[in-house]
Amino acid sequence: MHTIQPLLTYGLAVGAVLSSAAPTAVEKRASCTFTDAASAMASKTACSTITLNNIAVPAGTTLDLTGLTSGTRVIFEGTTTFGYQEWSGPLVSISGTDITVQGASGSVLDGDGARWWDGQGSNGGKTKPKFFYAHSLDSSSITGITIKNSPVQVFSIQSNNLSLTDITVDDADGDTQGGHNTDAFDIGSSTYITITNANVHNQDDCIAVNSGENIIFTGGTCTGGHGLSIGSVGGRSDNTVKNVTIEHSTVTNSQNGVRIKTVYGATGSVSEVTYSNIQMSGITNYGIVIEQDYENGSPTGTPTNGVPITDLTLNTVTGSVSSGATEIYILCGSGSCSSWTWTGVSITGGSKSTKCENVPSGVSC
Ligand SMILES: *[C@@H]1O[C@H](CO)[C@@H](O)[C@H](O)[C@H]1NC(C)=O
Ligand SMILES: *[C@@H]1O[C@H](CO)[C@@H](O)[C@H](O)[C@H]1NC(C)=O
Repeated sequence: MHTIQPLLTYGLAVGAVLSSAAPTAVEKRASCTFTDAASAMASKTACSTITLNNIAVPAGTTLDLTGLTSGTRVIFEGTTTFGYQEWSGPLVSISGTDITVQGASGSVLDGDGARWWDGQGSNGGKTKPKFFYAHSLDSSSITGITIKNSPVQVFSIQSNNLSLTDITVDDADGDTQGGHNTDAFDIGSSTYITITNANVHNQDDCIAVNSGENIIFTGGTCTGGHGLSIGSVGGRSDNTVKNVTIEHSTVTNSQNGVRIKTVYGATGSVSEVTYSNIQMSGITNYGIVIEQDYENGSPTGTPTNGVPITDLTLNTVTGSVSSGATEIYILCGSGSCSSWTWTGVSITGGSKSTKCENVPSGVSC
């Protein structure tokens, strides 16, 4: 049994006692507890520990914890809420080096996304705030955070050496109330990202790697969304995906299990991607889908070969799709899929695709 040691508090609590007063910065690095967002933001570089206790972030405001002093610890306690406004967010942004972000036991960041949900996600309707920017959050960790009902995408990751452990994204309400494009982890231009034991129920990708290197997603549980995705790759400023391992994870009641998308007419590369020990069930579109024909977010049916997919390993990727789904679909450009090693791949319950093209040797549709 573990007990949580009480934190030593060196300074006076600020904000907690004078939450109606104008924000004032504390002078020394202290262990600070805040009950309002403005005080926390005003004092963020002065506190060695920032405890956010039941913060209500005002509408249209980012809980801006960027530029933290190296070594700072941020603890979310209780329920963090956010006022309603149509805007693009983010609701939370944290940056710095050697930062520890933790969710206290029972804590939740509640987006109350139903206020924005209209079934259109980021494609139209209300402008919806993204939830959590981890941009330039380097050599850092985020642990034990629970996000509930995000308006749209949840974690936007653009960092180096960031680990995310025991993260829960619970957008289950979005299944029936119009949640859309609620990607849990979107990764771009990042290196050494490790996501361990994520528990996700959403309505878009569980993870989507658009660019980056040396990325691991392990022990994930993904429900309701679009699956474990690479891409779409191409058409951005960074179009290289290299050395990504997605392993020991389950995907249930989702559109796809395993998915790699590259962009029609674009350039870039996807290499050294491994899916290992992936178990899927209740997949409604494709068990495994790899296609090089995306344009403006949709498949065109015509693949191009400017974003080659090489050294793709699938090892023990198994499970079932619904009867109306396709088990495996591979649509590659001419010569742009090679050096694939698939072992222990078994997807059942649906139909075989008749539209696969340029399938590399050793692999079958
Ligand atoms: C990131 O991690 C890698 C591998 O552990 C290490 O080589 C590199 O120096 C780290 N980079 C930073 C900025 O800490
Ligand atoms: C691939 O990424 C993992 C995880 O960051 C790292 O440990 C490993 O060294 C990388 N492999 C190569 C060949 O760079």
